[in-house]
Amino acid sequence: MDVTLAHSIHNAFARLTQPIQGENKNNVIIGAVAATALGLVGFKLWMTGSSNEHHPNLSGKIVVITGGNTGIGYETAKEFALMGARVIILVRNEQKGQDAVAELKQSTGKSQIEYQLLRLDDLSSVRSSAQYLIQSLGGRKIDILVNNAGVMATPQGKTKEGYELQFGTNHLGHYALTVLLLNQDAITDGGRIITLSSNAHYKGIMEDLNFEKTPYNAWQAYSNSKLANVLFARELQERLFLKKSNIISVSLHPGAVRTELARHLGAMKVVFYPLSVFFKTPNQGAQTTLHCALSPDVFKHGGEYFDNCRQTKAHVATEENAPSRKLWELSERLTNISLD
Ligand SMILES: NC(=O)c1ccc[n+]([C@@H]2O[C@H](COP(=O)([O-])OP(=O)(O)OC[C@H]3O[C@@H](n4cnc5c(N)ncnc54)[C@H](OP(=O)(O)O)[C@@H]3O)[C@@H](O)[C@H]2O)c1
Repeated sequence: MDVTLAHSIHNAFARLTQPIQGENKNNVIIGAVAATALGLVGFKLWMTGSSNEHHPNLSGKIVVITGGNTGIGYETAKEFALMGARVIILVRNEQKGQDAVAELKQSTGKSQIEYQLLRLDDLSSVRSSAQYLIQSLGGRKIDILVNNAGVMATPQGKTKEGYELQFGTNHLGHYALTVLLLNQDAITDGGRIITLSSNAHYKGIMEDLNFEKTPYNAWQAYSNSKLANVLFARELQERLFLKKSNIISVSLHPGAVRTELARHLGAMKVVFYPLSVFFKTPNQGAQTTLHCALSPDVFKHGGEYFDNCRQTKAHVATEENAPSRKLWELSERLTNISLD
């Protein structure tokens, strides 16, 4: 090694290992605080993600959103209403539906916003809701269906029909609603079906979905239900393609978003709530849904998974046909509803 270089390295090392004193110490502290602040700002910006760039005039279009009374669904409803669409939110609580519609009308200045009742954890409610929705459309068709509603990490529970609550609500309810609407030809050819999943789906497994062989694990149940959302969107696209339909089906992760989804977290809220300052706002969380519903590019990605307004590789189970087909057949058996 060159002697001068060796000398320089020695000096630099000596400087680094010297105790920091006086003005130097202040500079080091200021530098560390500035670097931490910059890091936190960068992290927050990274968490915020991308924005939907498509803002067409949706006058004359009909958008249906499950769980549109709060969180990501509410902001999605607001954005579609601002673009001129007629928006129908499907909610499980009448009072919340009324309040959300009043607030949406007030904040957007639009009048074509309404709510209808739907309980995704009760298949008889899903059937009557689909029927009522179709009747209320009076022969017109849905242009965009957003399967948005969901529950996360609930205490162990069952749907009305006795299926695990998160799988039943997040997947089976949406499967039933979508297929019932398709069977009645209630979705426009060229329309879109957007299903909200989560990056939690990467940890999902399609085994023992009712937790009959293994002890209940609230996070595993959520991940399983979200993997089911991704496989459902994929298999639905396959089947629509076989029917020569031009309807597009995709699934997505909205990001980590500050909403009421964490309501079942119990003691974990102590960790979750401080962390949530870095999360997306509900409006930022709606951006990937809007992108999937509005970007012309999405037509090239039917059946695929999106994150941050971009198509993204999903769980390895989506690389083959068998897992999504198996889930579809199971869903047919559990709901007694099949695509015609
Ligand atoms: N927030 C996130 O960080 C995040 C991350 C990844 C994925 N997601 C997904 O994004 C979607 C929206 O979540 P969010 O964060 O907006 O949650 P949220 O604020 O808790 O909203 C969930 C919505 O679903 C409705 N819902 C729950 N159970 C239902 C049932 N049985 N029948 C009908 N509606 C029901 C809720 O109605 P009530 O108001 O009456 O309870 C509410 O309107 C979910 O699918 C979630 O898995 C969210």
